[in-house]
Amino acid sequence: MLRRLHPEQPDSFAFTAANQQWAEAQMTKYPEGRQASAVIPLLWRAQEQEGWLSRPAIESVAEMLGMAYIRVLEVASFYFMFQLQPVGSVAHIQVCGTTSCMICGAEDLIAVCKEKIAAKPHELSADGKLSWEEVECLGSCTNAPMAQIGKDYYEDLTVETFGKILDDLSNGKVPVPGPQNGRYAAEPLKGLSSLTEYEAAKPQYNVSVELATELGDTVKRIDGTEVPILTPWLGKDGKQAGASAAAKPPKAPETPKPAVKQAEAAKADAKEDAPETLEGARDGKPDDLKLLKGVGPKLEQMLNELGFYHFDQIAAWTPLQIAWVDARLKFKGRIERDGWIEQATMLAAGEETEFAKRSKADGKQED
Ligand code: FES
Repeated sequence: MLRRLHPEQPDSFAFTAANQQWAEAQMTKYPEGRQASAVIPLLWRAQEQEGWLSRPAIESVAEMLGMAYIRVLEVASFYFMFQLQPVGSVAHIQVCGTTSCMICGAEDLIAVCKEKIAAKPHELSADGKLSWEEVECLGSCTNAPMAQIGKDYYEDLTVETFGKILDDLSNGKVPVPGPQNGRYAAEPLKGLSSLTEYEAAKPQYNVSVELATELGDTVKRIDGTEVPILTPWLGKDGKQAGASAAAKPPKAPETPKPAVKQAEAAKADAKEDAPETLEGARDGKPDDLKLLKGVGPKLEQMLNELGFYHFDQIAAWTPLQIAWVDARLKFKGRIERDGWIEQATMLAAGEETEFAKRSKADGKQED
């Protein structure tokens, strides 16, 4: 299946404050310079928050991790768990269509989706609440046919029980996940043939269903406030580290610095190291900073907010001033890695860089 960005995109994306903290905490899991390893967790949280991955969300994750947009799009478009188009505002239904489920009635379930949601997969229902798709085996074959709805599995489905679940979801209810035919878990359909002494002692739900009902986040859009942010790798006590991470975002990762750079970074906050900034662009005409390789719309906006509008301002940064700016951008190390000073020097002198030429020819100036 061809997986592309949806033709209609929102203007912007931003993590909620709690999700932003969570994302920054995840980035600290990896060694310096390896923050790209957090790409899947961050994309997943963006999807948990919005329901799907928009282009601004992908770009935002790329900027947080200092990755080229295309690299993050490659990840998002490779894994089918990422939805690249809007999904139902209440739930996205994933019906397993692989062998066990297929021979136990998956095609009938898909017919229910077509009737109650939309004729085609990935189409929204008329009221925008539901969407559906067929997926490959979800590992619940013993309880076929089944569907994943939001975060949980609904198993041992029939046309009737599945239709009722969809109706309930549309009406604002969240049916209890798990087997829908009275089965407890994945025991034989005719009941236990061994370990029967445990039959009477079992709790109301199997472990998965119990957790699902306890968390209550089956179809919830995750805003980051659901569970505390735990970062035990930042301290001896996971709870304490988690509390401090929740109270204050962890420091954004820094690229390894040789001794000279460490000294520069230490002084980076000193006032005298601050580069000259402007209240606004001269004559109201800012340079297009996106012509610098490595500067996308978000970074340009951040630079403008710091008081940088022109190539000659950037070209004039000293090493200490680079460290000053670096300390204020979320994407540390980028200035040197992408050679902003060299590029800005050429552009300020009226020369073209290869990247600027290409960007102008493409009609866009993104990284
Ligand atoms: S075949 Fe459907 S869960 Fe495995």
